Amino acid sequence: MSHLVNKKIVLGISGGIAAYKCAELVRRLKDHGCEVKVVMTESAKHFITPLTMQAVSGEIVSDSLLDPSAEAAMGHIEFAKWADLILVAPATSNIIAKMAAGIADDLLTTLLLATPAKVAIAPAMNQQMYAHAATQANLTTLKARNIAIWGPGKGEQACGDVGAGRMLEPHELVSLCTTDVEPLLLAGKTITITAGPTREALDPVRFISNHSSGKMGYALAQEAISLGAKVNLISGPVTLKAPSGVNLVNIESAEQLLQQALTHATQSDAFIGCAAVADYRAANIAEQKMKKQGDELTLTLVKNPDVIAAVANLSEKRPYTVGFAAETQNVAQYAKGKLVNKNLDMICANDVSNSDVGFNSDNNALTLYWHNQERELALNSKAALALDVMKELAKRL
Ligand code: PMT
Repeated sequence: MSHLVNKKIVLGISGGIAAYKCAELVRRLKDHGCEVKVVMTESAKHFITPLTMQAVSGEIVSDSLLDPSAEAAMGHIEFAKWADLILVAPATSNIIAKMAAGIADDLLTTLLLATPAKVAIAPAMNQQMYAHAATQANLTTLKARNIAIWGPGKGEQACGDVGAGRMLEPHELVSLCTTDVEPLLLAGKTITITAGPTREALDPVRFISNHSSGKMGYALAQEAISLGAKVNLISGPVTLKAPSGVNLVNIESAEQLLQQALTHATQSDAFIGCAAVADYRAANIAEQKMKKQGDELTLTLVKNPDVIAAVANLSEKRPYTVGFAAETQNVAQYAKGKLVNKNLDMICANDVSNSDVGFNSDNNALTLYWHNQERELALNSKAALALDVMKELAKRL
């Protein structure tokens, strides 16, 4: 399976003759399972129509920064954060110069300044323009900012000149997306991830649960897959679609989670407990729907097994074990306590007192703790944080 599966790519098309190759490029990226959104500059539309790009991408093509309906659907900052990669192809000398100068005078150049994602450009222009000192200086500036420069190729050009300046072919660009976007840091590794809430039944129609949406755990699964890992995703009841390629195992209660966790953990290199597991369950589950009885109801709850502690204390085939700590106060102190008491290798703490992060939000902020080290991951999308967590994990496997 391509590790581009589910990767979110913004293809920025600027105005060069090579733009005609972009339909093929989008088709090939989609064949690899990418989600592709196309942004065109005004001049690009002279070389290939937005309708063609809409037909091949299956998405409305964006071309304006000042279009209220497009902004209402997905604002340009949200758009910039959506991407895992922005690829500008073809990249003309003009857009290269604007990028080097930090100019943001249309949608594409604005996205390029606003994105935290990896950016790559595929230069395409006349060989004389490519060789010009101004273009070369601009490319040096972009390289210093970690922007990947893919190509150009050499050969006969549309204008009749021969030399360097041809945009790389679509298959070459797809292959660079595959190998250059993220090295397969977790290739050959198996990772088991728990996600979502547990449900502890009270009777056939009622349960105790919590607000976990599964977004954080599913983002971890997605990023692990894209870094080449084999992933078991043990999930409580959520409404999310599992990332393609994961082995999805559905559970409801903490006891079911424990059973699945122990089955998969011993065959995994790492185990990540992101599920919000109920600490208690009903001592007795009523066989029939409970009837209303007076003004008060007392439930007797008993302690659930601690799933992650059971994994972390395996005496054989113990995986590298990562917990999450959802805290509303004394975040560092409680998280570090769980790291030690549950015998974990690493814990990711989130402050869930803030409703903009943690449970159910698309964003989060984490502090990662090891026994002798810590790292802050500032507020970001759960996808971006998940990638950082996976990269930290990869260093330790
Ligand atoms: O799902 P989202 O809406 O995206 O929200 C993400 C999240 C807030 C749920 C997630 O980031 C998170 O913090 N998950 C852990 C929630 C939790 O149960 O934290 P805790 O501090 O109560 O538990 C500490 C660790 O022990 C966790 O790894 C938990 O999975 C594990 N645990 C807890 C109790 C139990 N009986 N068994 C466990 O394995």
